Amino acid sequence: MVGQLYLLSGEITIAKNKNKNNMTNLRPIKALTNFLIENEKEGMTMAEIGVFDGSTTCDYVDLIRKNNGKLYVVDWFKGNVGAGGVHEYNPDKEKEVLEIFKENLKGYLDLIEIYNGPSHEMIQNIPNNSLDFCFIDADHRYSFVFKDIELMIPKMKKGGIMMGHDYDDFDKNMISFIKDEYLEVDWVHVPECNKWAHCGVIKAVYDHFGYDIECRQDFDGQNQPIWIKRF
Ligand SMILES: C[S@@+](CC[C@H](N)C(=O)[O-])C[C@H]1O[C@@H](n2cnc3c(N)ncnc32)[C@H](O)[C@@H]1O
Repeated sequence: MVGQLYLLSGEITIAKNKNKNNMTNLRPIKALTNFLIENEKEGMTMAEIGVFDGSTTCDYVDLIRKNNGKLYVVDWFKGNVGAGGVHEYNPDKEKEVLEIFKENLKGYLDLIEIYNGPSHEMIQNIPNNSLDFCFIDADHRYSFVFKDIELMIPKMKKGGIMMGHDYDDFDKNMISFIKDEYLEVDWVHVPECNKWAHCGVIKAVYDHFGYDIECRQDFDGQNQPIWIKRF
């Protein structure tokens, strides 16, 4: 595997220091990778909705190869509306980010179907009842997350496991603090409990599943909890 290309402040650089996977500058979600390692299965079929440069994908894709599996990825490669930092929305970066994703996943592209476009349209390309796992991490605004989940439910096999990122309600007590004006925002300060949170994610997950989910911390990764729903 070549050194990972890394998008920082609009510049593409080939990072120099490689980690133990021979990759560089990864911002993996270790909670996801570890969960997949615990639950791996022959022929595992997975979808990741929102991949950006493939930081997270790179970390688990070997597992898909090892199990003769398949991966669908969905992204418009433009970043997140309302986000700052590396994921800031910028339509001019679409080609560049897609190329970085492909470069980072070089050697694995035979396993991956890339659907480039708005998630609500692209998810339709994934066959129904086909997925053992999916991970939702695209737009964080309520209406978008709610719809991503809704569209992904029929894609899951019986016994499949749906997961998602940025679940800032690990203690499952925030719903009563969330006001309507916090929902269509990427990330917002909630004065009622003095926390920064992805309220759209929390409420969309709650409106689909209540608190009938598991969640895991990600202290070794991006440090944002993940939510997990078994079907
Ligand atoms: C926060 S990044 C997550 C990337 C990856 N899961 C990770 O942890 O490194 C969210 C990604 O979702 C994509 N995205 C945001 N809104 C989208 C939409 N409406 N349709 C498709 N992709 C979207 C962005 O382009 C970005 O690459």
